Amino acid sequence: MLFSACLASAEGMRPVHARRAMVATVHELASQTGADTMRAGGNAVDAAVAAGFALAVVHPAAGNLGGGGFLLLRLANGEVHFLDFREKAPAKASAGMYLDAKGNVIPQASQIGYRAVAVPGSVAGLVEAQRRWGKLALKQVMEPAIRLARDGFALRYADAHALRDELLAQFAESKRIFQRNGNYYEQGEIFRQPELARTLERIAQDPDDFYHGALARELAAAIQQGGGLISTDDLANYKVVERRAVRGTYRGYQVISAPPPSSGGVALLETLNILEGYDLHALGSRSAKSIHLTVESFRRAFFDRAEFMSDPDFTPVPVAQLIDKQFAARWRESIDPVRATPSDSLKRPKFEALDQLASTRAPMAVREGGNTTHLSVVDPQGNAVAMTTTLNDSFGSRVTVPGLGFLLNDEMDDFTVKPGVANLYGLIQSAANAIAPNKRPLSSMTPAIVLKDERLFLVLGSPGGATIISTVANIIMGVIDFGLDIQQAVNAPRFHQQWVPDELRLEKFGFSPDTLPLLSNGGYELKQTGYWGDAECIAVDPRTGDRLGASDGRNGGRAIGF
Ligand code: DON
Repeated sequence: MLFSACLASAEGMRPVHARRAMVATVHELASQTGADTMRAGGNAVDAAVAAGFALAVVHPAAGNLGGGGFLLLRLANGEVHFLDFREKAPAKASAGMYLDAKGNVIPQASQIGYRAVAVPGSVAGLVEAQRRWGKLALKQVMEPAIRLARDGFALRYADAHALRDELLAQFAESKRIFQRNGNYYEQGEIFRQPELARTLERIAQDPDDFYHGALARELAAAIQQGGGLISTDDLANYKVVERRAVRGTYRGYQVISAPPPSSGGVALLETLNILEGYDLHALGSRSAKSIHLTVESFRRAFFDRAEFMSDPDFTPVPVAQLIDKQFAARWRESIDPVRATPSDSLKRPKFEALDQLASTRAPMAVREGGNTTHLSVVDPQGNAVAMTTTLNDSFGSRVTVPGLGFLLNDEMDDFTVKPGVANLYGLIQSAANAIAPNKRPLSSMTPAIVLKDERLFLVLGSPGGATIISTVANIIMGVIDFGLDIQQAVNAPRFHQQWVPDELRLEKFGFSPDTLPLLSNGGYELKQTGYWGDAECIAVDPRTGDRLGASDGRNGGRAIGF
């Protein structure tokens, strides 16, 4: 017993080494699916799509057919592609749709039930990525997911307990499938999903069916019967968008990440640009001084996120200005070397390109929700995928489409539901992120790739709503500034600040008791909580080319390579 426990913990302490290929996901079966796909001759995209569909089966809280996400691909030849398959608001959606006659937010209206659902993009995104860059047939890539759904798999302790979610019980089909009508699944029991297997088979047979065929009609009919807004036209009109990834540098490394409608890449680069002016290495990982400077950088990047970020197809987002190193230098001048800047006293420094825009937009409060999943893949040729997908909240809207066996997202909650009201993640955003027909809600998802001397170095990402941005930043800094290996960087205790609320969130374990009073004395309101995030990362050893997988022990994930 003791011996195996030691082995298990040792595994989470060191990166998993492999010579050629690596997959890191939250679930061993999904990682194994990705690795097997590459052994069968597939590339990183085949593996990511195979693992993505497998996660829809083995990780129903976040893996999905009924949600959306972002896929960042860097091919071995250096080409970069970014697919936006974020959900979008149905054509009948409107700015005040979650408010009552008095203009108050209707509790949970944008989070639970059919009206919270935005038009799903995951199936379109995975299928398009596979068609454009995959080497194998879609059927072959989806086969493991179909088998896992049809034949079932043994539930892990955490998965069995997650299925006990009380809100799932509100919807008869969810209660039947995930909770056996109240006779809850236990650890080790085999969980079979025949309806989901059938839906996956139909997609494998004809991927167009989901948006244009019988599957689309069944999906729209079920949603409308439940009181939702999504129509067959909404499904038929859904389009995956290829966008230009955002790029920047950090201490000579190139950082590539998600553009709007995610705030992730821009906020990540803005944070790193501010931090570049400090010798963090000399200050040391998790010292009060390095935490202070990092938090002040997060505070400023989130302040700008709140004001400027939204779907760029509706409102232009000043990306180039926000990730300009000169702008970061101005922000840096506003950081007191030892004391916290209260969020309500924060003022954006003069920066011509932003000043005009800033005067026209007032930041407003919104909310965000609890489940998402990230996977990273590197294949033998050196192609790399970082993909983050989400249902938003854990199990999304909690609605399972009757007869089709999959859960629907509650991504409508990522919009600004009402100015001045915080979202599920306590996030503040501007009117630019108000609900409008066919618009994509602002996201924080931050799939990222880092290059060293133009060569692949890191592939990373995490769930966690707003904390995704600070988690990804802290891991990059862990490796580049503090010389940690990728697993140590993932394991390092996390901290987070997002401008509003004006508090410094820290994980409960891992910070020195000597450090915390130094931070309190510096003006921070500390809030220690349990763990968050689930970083699924890969590093490529610059000397040997070895693939080093680092899955986040916090959530029981697994990196598998060969
Ligand atoms: O797109 C977003 O930013 C959110 N829907 C992500 C939600 C999330 O990461 C929850 N995870 N724990």
